[in-house]
Amino acid sequence: MRIEPAAAIVGHIAVPGDKSISHRAVMIGAVGEGETTIRGFGRSEDTESTMAAVRGLGVMVEEEDVDTIHVQGVGLRGLRQPEGVIDCGNSGTTLRLLAGLLAGQAGRFELSGDDSLRGRPVDRIATPLAEMGARVATADGKPPLVVEGGGLKSIRYELPVASAQVKSCILHAGLYAEGRTTVVEPLPTRDHTELMLEAAGAPVTRRPDRVSIGPAERLRLGEVDVPGDFSAAAPFVVAATLLPGSELTIHDVGLNPRRTGLLDVLERMGARITAMHRHRSGGEPVGDLLVQSAQLVATTVRPEEVPRMVDEVPLFALAAACARGESRVEGARELRVKETDRIETVTTSLRALGIRIRKRDDGFGVRGVPTRPKGGGMSSHGDHRIAMLGAVAGLVSREGVELQDAEAVAVSFPGFFELLDSVTQR
Ligand code: S3P
Repeated sequence: MRIEPAAAIVGHIAVPGDKSISHRAVMIGAVGEGETTIRGFGRSEDTESTMAAVRGLGVMVEEEDVDTIHVQGVGLRGLRQPEGVIDCGNSGTTLRLLAGLLAGQAGRFELSGDDSLRGRPVDRIATPLAEMGARVATADGKPPLVVEGGGLKSIRYELPVASAQVKSCILHAGLYAEGRTTVVEPLPTRDHTELMLEAAGAPVTRRPDRVSIGPAERLRLGEVDVPGDFSAAAPFVVAATLLPGSELTIHDVGLNPRRTGLLDVLERMGARITAMHRHRSGGEPVGDLLVQSAQLVATTVRPEEVPRMVDEVPLFALAAACARGESRVEGARELRVKETDRIETVTTSLRALGIRIRKRDDGFGVRGVPTRPKGGGMSSHGDHRIAMLGAVAGLVSREGVELQDAEAVAVSFPGFFELLDSVTQR
């Protein structure tokens, strides 16, 4: 796909429902009582993997329309062993979060996915699940992951890496364990699981660096209104910031502070972003974002900031490329185990567009110049976040970008290019 340079980003948009919250609503609804209605469901290949997975486990999911779905809960222990392998597609969230629930079910469950997912670590969940008493096997720390559940005991687990997926997996298993299960986090990660489990009636207690859960008798979600996905809004935020004369409003977007690290970093670089109409929906902070273009200056993203912007670090690299001075990202080794090794894919893609970026073991350094990068050709390598990075890079470039494998955006945001087009002025 060819992305032509743009003049500005102007208008009003809403982005699809949050992917992380959508996955969780389907899974928690599946083991809940009665019907869960999910409005603003973030439909994408990833969340469809979760829908298909729970259907395979015997859960009825009705699709009223594209973003309204009804999940008929089977109760905490009601998931059934499917015929074959549970295919999680490209979705690490599906695999890791579901594994926690399956550890509490009777039966043998095998979880796998596409080539990318089969290259990603699952020992980080296998270890705590085994400690809780589940029988778990992996292929050398990677999927397929086989879980045989039953008879779990609680643990206190200090996460070796900051990961909401691992935390969520353990909390899910904790629903079935005798006693209270505690997860201690090295740094705060997204807390959608604890917020939703609490809303569903699970006995959750929280401290700044840890969360505990006791066994639940039953869960009930009822209605879930999913806010817009901050990670889907982020490419628009960066494009509107970088293109002079832009003014973009993004309505009803999730503003959970554990997700919006990119806003804090952009603001300290000089971005003009205003959050308006702040309110809460089902415990999740929501609001509108007004983004106006601005000249940026360089900054360093420190290790403790990374979990709050883990999926937005590729976009930060582009913002840094257009900011005056030397920027850096430190302590972001986790990027190496995402859908692609994002330290490699970000640096090779942006270098191909004329950006001066150098990889480091745990991040990268960028020499920013406040002009448009040249542009050129790059591939998403099948990674949705790299595809969105390429699209924004094309808009802010001088000569445009030829983007290979652009359709990878469908993993999280099928209508991305159409929406981007609708607010782009050439
Ligand atoms: C997610 C957590 C993050 C993030 C992923 C979605 C989630 O992964 O990168 O896109 O929904 O819990 P980690 O928690 O493993 O860093």
